[in-house]
Amino acid sequence: MSGLKFELKKKDPQSKARLGEITTGHGKIQTPIFMPVGTAGTVKSVHTREIKEDINAEIILGNTYHLYLRPKLEILEKAGGLHKFNGWDRPILTDSGGYQVFSLGDMRKITEEGVLFRSHIDGSKHLFTPENVMDTQRTIGADIIMAFDECTPYPCDYAYAKNSMERTHRWLQRCVDRFDSTDPKYGYHQSLFPIVQGSTFKDLRIKSAETIASFGREGNAIGGLSVGEPAEDMYEMTDLVTDILPEDKPRYLMGVGTPANILEGIALGVDMFDCVMPTRNARNGMLFTTQGVINIKNLKWADDFSPIDEELGGYVSTFYSKAYLRHLIHAKEILAAQIASIHNLTFYLWLVREARKHIEAGDFREWKDVMVKKLMTRL
Ligand code: GUN
Repeated sequence: MSGLKFELKKKDPQSKARLGEITTGHGKIQTPIFMPVGTAGTVKSVHTREIKEDINAEIILGNTYHLYLRPKLEILEKAGGLHKFNGWDRPILTDSGGYQVFSLGDMRKITEEGVLFRSHIDGSKHLFTPENVMDTQRTIGADIIMAFDECTPYPCDYAYAKNSMERTHRWLQRCVDRFDSTDPKYGYHQSLFPIVQGSTFKDLRIKSAETIASFGREGNAIGGLSVGEPAEDMYEMTDLVTDILPEDKPRYLMGVGTPANILEGIALGVDMFDCVMPTRNARNGMLFTTQGVINIKNLKWADDFSPIDEELGGYVSTFYSKAYLRHLIHAKEILAAQIASIHNLTFYLWLVREARKHIEAGDFREWKDVMVKKLMTRL
């Protein structure tokens, strides 16, 4: 069983952007990449076949918290893991629950042992520890498993951020000990990525990045960003951290973000991104297009029979018109969520593919600067 491989293919001379290729037990991923979020084992309202063939995603996310509560591990194990359960045969990354349990507010309690929480489904009590979260992700069968961390809330004071970061580091050691003393369940390699924290404090971010790098894992993640801080702070922290994380391992910026955030993140040396924005916003009628952002509910689209996004290509974006999608959203038809989600995800995957082309061509920075302005235009 071979490990995760990362080949750094090219570096942009005018930014920290990189072109790479990750090899997993479920195939290759070209980086920079965007990973659609499939919280409960489904990318909401999108068939597995559409994720592969229309959107052409190379890796998707699953969520430990949600899958552990429903359908539960017993079912996932009987199925032979999440890949078998939902039919997705490309790579899967699972988040550890370190983000979801902390957003449960007064439904959870953090101790050194772990996080005691109540299920949002039936109020039942559960304990997540660094150890059992490793076991759970092994059972789900993710190719890439995330460490159990605390996503530090924003804003927070220095003392809280420092304590929380130090606990995340202690938990990481426990994650590593458990992970390294257990085997994959389904015959392919699984990798553990640790997560940098430290809120918006520069010295903490530096300390955390150095600590995380010293573990020498197969890839590294940056967490605790895009949680309400100004975009400038997110970029500054990312810039500091990518200077420290090893160059020869993939870097994942968790929960980010808008199309502009992703392009800036790529320019700062990030290789992997995920965000609920393309699917969540799609369900509310917000579309990302090659010309800018559209609120498809607006009256101005009522009789616009042009395709959703001619330039983007892809089946739903060229087949259906803006007027038709607007009608479906207003009529609360379930097809609206399907079309809008597939469109937005097709756009996000197009965006990272274009970024890769421009890194390859050597004009990424100029292209990125023009694109960021264009993508923020509201049509
Ligand atoms: N998703 C977005 N941010 C974070 C984070 O800081 N930690 C984890 N585990 N998941 C995230």
